[in-house]
Amino acid sequence: MTGSGAILGELFTEAGRADPYPLYTKLHELGPASHVDGTFFVANAYHVINAVLRNPGFGKWGQSAQSIPELAEHPSLTRFNQSILDMNPPDHTRVRRLMATVFTPRRVAALAPAITDIVSNLLDAMADSGADGSPVDFMDSFAFRLPVSVICELLGIPEADRYRFRALMQDVAIALEMITDLSVLAPADVAMLEIEKYFTALVAERRAAPRDDLTSALIHDADQGDGRLSEEELLSNLVLLLLAGFETTTNLFGNGLAVLFDRPQLAAGLRAGTVPVSGFVEEVLRFDSPVQLTSRLAMSDGLQVAGIPVPKGSEVLLLLGAANHDADRFPEPELFDPERPDNVPLSFGAGAHYCLGAALARLEAVTAIPLLLDRFPDLAPAKDAERIRTDRLVLRGYQTFPVVLS
Ligand code: HEM
Repeated sequence: MTGSGAILGELFTEAGRADPYPLYTKLHELGPASHVDGTFFVANAYHVINAVLRNPGFGKWGQSAQSIPELAEHPSLTRFNQSILDMNPPDHTRVRRLMATVFTPRRVAALAPAITDIVSNLLDAMADSGADGSPVDFMDSFAFRLPVSVICELLGIPEADRYRFRALMQDVAIALEMITDLSVLAPADVAMLEIEKYFTALVAERRAAPRDDLTSALIHDADQGDGRLSEEELLSNLVLLLLAGFETTTNLFGNGLAVLFDRPQLAAGLRAGTVPVSGFVEEVLRFDSPVQLTSRLAMSDGLQVAGIPVPKGSEVLLLLGAANHDADRFPEPELFDPERPDNVPLSFGAGAHYCLGAALARLEAVTAIPLLLDRFPDLAPAKDAERIRTDRLVLRGYQTFPVVLS
């Protein structure tokens, strides 16, 4: 095994998942990308990952994974294979265009007042539960509830159903991690079947009585009978929107709060208006990205990654978190600088699969953070209860984050 193979081995251990950044530094020292072994490659430099993401020669596994019997029996995998996250052109282009038509910047911008209302209600509830000085779990009471409420509002999922999705989606998201042992998918499969059942019922309801929501808009497309969106694609992309719509943004809030607690002068600057909130959010995305990696498949012959030939059928692991800490692109990458010039991290990806919800995630963060800091001027980490990270690498964040409000 090459040097990069040993480093990746460490990255997938518990310690590596807890703090991948020193390992990214070691990979940068080896070069911008490397051949790990067989048909497996890894890229860590910003310019290399950016180029692979924008190169149509590199694609996703898509439905090809379903021809492998061991994979095809896992609904947690097959469901994602039929969503845009895992599709290739022309199917990706067809379905992504439909989704972009309903997920418009106008629809996102129009959500601003609703987001402010949701934030105010959540802050009231936090204030109630922490009024006696007892710790409040920031992840569950705020970081999860805000984005799940927003995406459910868009999808038309009733309020009473929303808060049950955190545990279910965390189980489903095991399928997005780098797994070698398929038996770890058992809880992901159970959770996926439950979520599918939920959406099947919701689709039936909205088909019978459409509303002004994304689910009804996508059902309308599926019902045109011209092949623009199959029933399977409808279901898979609704599941994807729900998962992508909150799990990542939840982690943006948790990772951002950790940055603030570790650097109290930043919170003071945000409160005083001397630190720009949009710059702060962008730098959190760079500094501790909620999505640490993705990968691509070489779809044709003659491809290269940083000058290394990559044969057709090879997998290239793209370490977005490493790209965001590439000193050639971001000088002093370990320094948190909300006013970093030309700050364009790869946290939302790039190219054809660039995150469909990037504007929504940013809107939620820039709206919520000032309101949170204004409402709780003495917000602090709880003394006797530690913040605990989820044991995940791809979707990086906290499981619990106890805080006190005063
Ligand atoms: C901080 C929050 C978020 C982060 C860091 C994030 C990150 C990403 C990344 C890295 C990708 C590309 C994956 C790849 O190229 O393999 C992606 C795709 C996607 N994201 Fe997000 N995301 C966030 C929030 C959201 C939200 C709020 C939504 C939806 C409402 C969303 C919906 C999607 C969808 C549908 C895709 C698939 C796009 C495609 O494959 O064409 N994301 N996201």
